[in-house]
Amino acid sequence: MADARLFHWEFRPDLPPPEAFRIEGGRPLEGTVRVSGAKNAALKLLAAATLTGERCRFENVPEIEDVRVMAEVLTDLGVVVEHPADGVYEVAAGDIDWLFIPLEAAAKMRASFILLGPLLTRFGQVIISNPGGDRIGRRPVNLHVDAMRALGATIDYRDGYYLAKAPGRLRGGEVSFPQVTVMGTENAMLAATLADGDTVIRPAAQEPEIDDLIAFLVKMGADVQRTSPDTIEVHGRRRLRGANHAVVPDRIETATFLIGAAVTGGRVVLENAPCDHVGALVELFGTMGLPVACRESSIEIDASGVGPGDLLASDVVTAPYPGLATDTQPPLCVLLTQASGTSHVHEAVFEDRIEWLSELRKLGARIDIEDTHHASIHGPVRLHGAETTIGDLRAGASLILAALAADGPSLIHGAHHVHRGYENIDRKFQQLGADITRSADAV
Ligand code: EPU
Repeated sequence: MADARLFHWEFRPDLPPPEAFRIEGGRPLEGTVRVSGAKNAALKLLAAATLTGERCRFENVPEIEDVRVMAEVLTDLGVVVEHPADGVYEVAAGDIDWLFIPLEAAAKMRASFILLGPLLTRFGQVIISNPGGDRIGRRPVNLHVDAMRALGATIDYRDGYYLAKAPGRLRGGEVSFPQVTVMGTENAMLAATLADGDTVIRPAAQEPEIDDLIAFLVKMGADVQRTSPDTIEVHGRRRLRGANHAVVPDRIETATFLIGAAVTGGRVVLENAPCDHVGALVELFGTMGLPVACRESSIEIDASGVGPGDLLASDVVTAPYPGLATDTQPPLCVLLTQASGTSHVHEAVFEDRIEWLSELRKLGARIDIEDTHHASIHGPVRLHGAETTIGDLRAGASLILAALAADGPSLIHGAHHVHRGYENIDRKFQQLGADITRSADAV
């Protein structure tokens, strides 16, 4: 008998037209650049606007692909989303006629799962695709689901979808996470704002983007407070109102440009960049020997006098805020290729964030990948241009940094990953004197 052919029904997301970055490396970055609004705040703020039927207005929203996807998902639900000017979004969720987040949305962007809490608490039900599972990578959402159950929701799982219901209102309760989770904290907090009674979330994640979300919720009339560094308390309200808000600056973009200046021996001033949001990184720069000056809302790095071999190798361990952000681990690995000695990297938050180092090796980096969480980087090395492929957002920005520091030309495939989270990254690097262009890719 001939081999049976597997019936293949799985959804495959549309891929954007292929684009590549071409970079001629070896020029120090010089000048001033303004940091955009934070992706990981903007996405949650847009979702939070569904907690009310009144209009909400957001400024300093980054013009990135993930924001565009969130706007599209909201529009599909029946929410009115307007984009009257660059960086400005207005959201009015008066009528939602379709309480369903399809696999198409989850496949494009895991952060679509942040709609679970607000839709469930306001409308009493939602069906939402599981963004984890084998289909699109391993990123569980069990902590989000447990948090909703702690607030009285019933949640069934069928055919890749969570069917969530809250008979009457959700009710306030204790949400105790077994580990720190950023979006889990946010989902619990958003759900609790309209629940009946008081909710305590512990341990609550401490990222600045969460405090930005709290600030917006308070403007909406919610009763939410961070009562200790790792505790958020919410007293549920019957309804919330519309509000205006400007998105907090993106500390990961700040880190990316600081490291860009460092690896090219440049001098850069970042505006709209509060230093206290990148405290652990600035401390690490100090131990490595990189001069950084913090002003009121800007940061200057001057690596022009830092010669090859002047930087000291360091050990990097990622952790929830206020620790060293996992999102800065990939760019930091590029920096560590320029430090003298062996640096050890421990990626303690995610287990799929070390593999990209095999792409960095193509530019001449000397790296031992020990397991899914650990690597050793030996430096300093003179990086050389290479052809590489981006696998995800932060790895993509990091390959750009490596190519900017390298001698000669590089061709980097998969530019669309970077547009998900960095606003005009090529233009911003050009503004700092980099030779970087983006073009259609034949691959
Ligand atoms: N986890 C679970 N179960 C859950 C949720 C999380 O086991 O239900 C695990 C994760 O697998 C991970 C750890 O808990 O090992 C922490 O994950 P967390 O929930 O904190 O991450 P997240 O909320 O999904 C956000 C950012 C990420 C950032 C992490 C950590 C957004 C949209 N995403 O993800 O940003 O790396 O926090 O700071 O806010 C990025 O911008 O490139 C990015 C990946």
